[in-house]
Amino acid sequence: MDAASIERIYSSVAGIYDWIFGHWFSEPRSKALGLLDLQSGGHVLEVGVGTGLSLKHYPRHYRVIGIDCSEQMLAQGKRRLRRHGLRHVSLMKMDAMQMTFEDNMFDAVFAAYVISAVPDPHQVMREMIRVCKVGGKIVLINHFQNGNLLISKCEKAVSPLTKKIGFQADLDLRALLDGKPITVEKKEDAKPFNYWKVVQCIKRETVPRGLPNGTHEIATDSL
Ligand SMILES: C[S@@+](CC[C@H](N)C(=O)[O-])C[C@H]1O[C@@H](n2cnc3c(N)ncnc32)[C@H](O)[C@@H]1O
Repeated sequence: MDAASIERIYSSVAGIYDWIFGHWFSEPRSKALGLLDLQSGGHVLEVGVGTGLSLKHYPRHYRVIGIDCSEQMLAQGKRRLRRHGLRHVSLMKMDAMQMTFEDNMFDAVFAAYVISAVPDPHQVMREMIRVCKVGGKIVLINHFQNGNLLISKCEKAVSPLTKKIGFQADLDLRALLDGKPITVEKKEDAKPFNYWKVVQCIKRETVPRGLPNGTHEIATDSL
C-alpha cells in the first residue's frame, strides 16, 4: 500500500464513511478514549482522525489535535467540529509517518482503525512514540493477526486483497511493538464481534526521531 493510493481510497469514501463506520464502531472508540484518562488541559494527538467520529467523545477539558492525510476526510471532520461546537479540537493535514510535531509534545496519542491502514505501520508507531511524553499513553484500536494458526493463515491469504481497499488484515501486534520503548498495560477485545482490540501502552523513555527498530526492549508479556 503506497501513500498516494491510501489517500485516494479514503478521499473517495469520505462522503459515506460515517454511514459505514459510525454506529457499529462507536462503543470501542468511547471505551478506548476512557483509557486516556487525562487531567484537565491534557494534550492529545489523534492520528488518522478521518471524519472525526471520535471527536465528540473527548472531554472538553482536553486539548485535541487530529491529523490525517486525506483532505476530504478532514473536510467531513471540520464540518463535525462546527456542528458540535468542538472548539477544543483542531484538525490538520499531516502524514503520520513524518509528523512535524516536537518530540515529547503530547500527554496521550490515540489511533483508531489506522495502524493497519498506513503504508508503514512501524514508522507510524515510532512517530507516535516520539511525539508522546515519557509516561504518556498510546492507545490503539485495531484488528491484529489472530493467535489461531488457521485463522492467521486465512488473514495472510486475504491481506493482498484487503490492501486494495485500504488496510492490511494480518498486522502482527507483537512484531509492531517489539523493540520499541513502550509497555503494554492493557489489551481488551472490542465490538463488533470482538474482532478488534483496544491496546493501551505507556511510553517508557525518550526516543529520538528515526531510531530503527530493535534498539530498545519492550515488555510484551501481556500480549
Ligand atoms: C479506517 S480510517 C480511520 C478513521 C478514524 N480514525 C476512525 O476511527 O473512523 C483510516 C484513516 O487513516 C488515514 N491515514 C492513512 N494513512 C495515513 C497517513 N500516512 N497519515 C495520516 N493519516 C493517514 C486515512 O486517510 C483514514 O482517514
